[in-house]
Amino acid sequence: MEILRHIVVYLHIIGFAVLFGAWLVEAASRRVRFTRLMNVGLAIAGVTGLVLAAPWGMDGSPDYIKLGVKLVVLLVIGALLGIGTGRQRKGQLPPALFWSVGVLALLNAGIAVIWR
Ligand code: HEM
Repeated sequence: MEILRHIVVYLHIIGFAVLFGAWLVEAASRRVRFTRLMNVGLAIAGVTGLVLAAPWGMDGSPDYIKLGVKLVVLLVIGALLGIGTGRQRKGQLPPALFWSVGVLALLNAGIAVIWR
């Protein structure tokens, strides 16, 4: 069970890497736009995160306050990606929406690692 949990954490980190990596490629190329890969990464991080939020394959119980904060941040990223993709189709993606997604993805990774 513990190994299985570690594998889900591994997949969860891959989800983060796909989300943030896809965002970073656009930012580094000075393209203010959202791509499908960002949604894919968010979906992987979200599904695996919810699986990890259940108390299995670990001693003690998860920190539900920390997980609640992560869930809210994930939902905000999802809303920004949804609203931003709609705006992008009609014209231009507002830079604030684009930058917020990168910052919030990093924030959630930071919460996971630093909040102990
Ligand atoms: C954009 C969304 C998210 C990102 C970027 C993200 C990022 C990360 C990263 C980088 C780790 C590995 C850190 C470590 O092993 O200490 C991690 C662990 C974890 N994440 Fe997430 N996460 C996200 C969403 C969520 C959500 C929505 C949940 C659950 C509600 C969640 C639950 C967990 C759990 C339980 C762990 C295992 C380690 C721990 O307890 O901190 N994550 N996350």
